[in-house]
Amino acid sequence: MNIKPNNNLNAVVLLSAGNGERLNSNVPKQYLPTNNNLTVLEESLITFLNNPLINFIQPVISSEHLSLYNSIIKKFSNNKKLLPAIYGGATRADSVFNALQTLRKYMPNKVLIHDSARPFVQKHIIDNILNAIEPKIGVVSAVPIADTIKRANDNVVYSEEDRTNLFSVQTPQGFIFNEILLCYTKFKDQKLTDDSSYFIKNNYQIKLIEGNLLNSKVTYKQDLENLKRLNYNYSDNSPSYEYINLVGFGVDIHAFSLSKEDNQILFLGGVEIPYTTGLKAHSDGDVVIHAIVDAILGALSEGDIGEHFKDTDERWSGADSREFLSFTKYLLKKHNAVINNLDIAIMAEQPKLMDYKQLIKEEIAFVLNIDSKRVNIKATTAEKLGAIGNKEGIKCYCVASITKYLDATDDML
Ligand code: CTP
Ligand code: MG
Repeated sequence: MNIKPNNNLNAVVLLSAGNGERLNSNVPKQYLPTNNNLTVLEESLITFLNNPLINFIQPVISSEHLSLYNSIIKKFSNNKKLLPAIYGGATRADSVFNALQTLRKYMPNKVLIHDSARPFVQKHIIDNILNAIEPKIGVVSAVPIADTIKRANDNVVYSEEDRTNLFSVQTPQGFIFNEILLCYTKFKDQKLTDDSSYFIKNNYQIKLIEGNLLNSKVTYKQDLENLKRLNYNYSDNSPSYEYINLVGFGVDIHAFSLSKEDNQILFLGGVEIPYTTGLKAHSDGDVVIHAIVDAILGALSEGDIGEHFKDTDERWSGADSREFLSFTKYLLKKHNAVINNLDIAIMAEQPKLMDYKQLIKEEIAFVLNIDSKRVNIKATTAEKLGAIGNKEGIKCYCVASITKYLDATDDML
């Protein structure tokens, strides 16, 4: 085991080879959707990809999930940090061992081992672990046990346990690469439950750093729902992070459909509005959502809606525009940004929108996973002036304010 580590390189093993038997869904848990228009696996993957302290990520997947994995990973294919996935083994420990073997050729100094079933690991946890790793000292995210602990058989308690000094350990678990590789090589036949147990077997030390509930593991069905609620409009950034406030502007206009072949249902902000006809467009013609998407894209410097969703693409023929809005959540996460507020002005001579403003506001907030207080809807007529005033169509303007959190490598600094 004569590997000379490169002192600057930090690797991550991202474990995704489990079958999620306890959750028992048709789609394995790491491929289930979160409320960011991403899958469970992509959430922590993006957090690691965005972290400048991380140099390589080694995904470990099951051969049975290869097509699922390939379908989500395409959008990261240009990212050099992401190594080709390898297959895991029958147990978590086998999967880790396979990954450590593969990572040998990259000679990392430190390695973090993370369960992809913990989608919402935060940047500061990763940074704190990496900073605390020392030779023969591994570092693990953990939370103190708050509940009283009892042992029971068939639901009958037979002993009380003292919870003093008890912690539940999470991942990431971080180590000097050569040391954890040595421990796994020496003790791999023992069925130990986590990486730090292998480390301790070799008489090395483990330090705990403060984890949190947001970094809990998705094990049972309800766990993902609970975590999604905790992650609601959540921003991982303490005020000590540098940030920049950005503004984007979007405008869109669509004519009312005159022919029966065109959209007959009017959608504004994802809400169906009773009217004699819909708006003519390749998609469902939701002029409000299109303006919002362009405003968000503008703030992120990501071009315009047509670049992401071409109006010649058959996939978007008659598309529900909420899909486009949902897509911006992925871009926001990728840019480490959150929405501060949206101000939307709809210009329509007809129909009257007064009764629908609240519904539109709530629908937009719901799709974007933000508080509805951050969305404002204004509706106005064009005082009978011009095409809108002449009831030929509807126009919408939107201003989006976002905050983008920066790190040392960010070119916006
Ligand atoms: N894991 C792995 N290889 C295995 C088993 C588990 O890479 N052979 C990964 C899982 O994908 C998960 C993490 O280890 O990200 C923690 O495991 P766990 O929560 O137990 O996931 P599953 O084994 O998938 O779930 P279950 O035990 O309910 O089947
Ligand atoms: Mg398991």
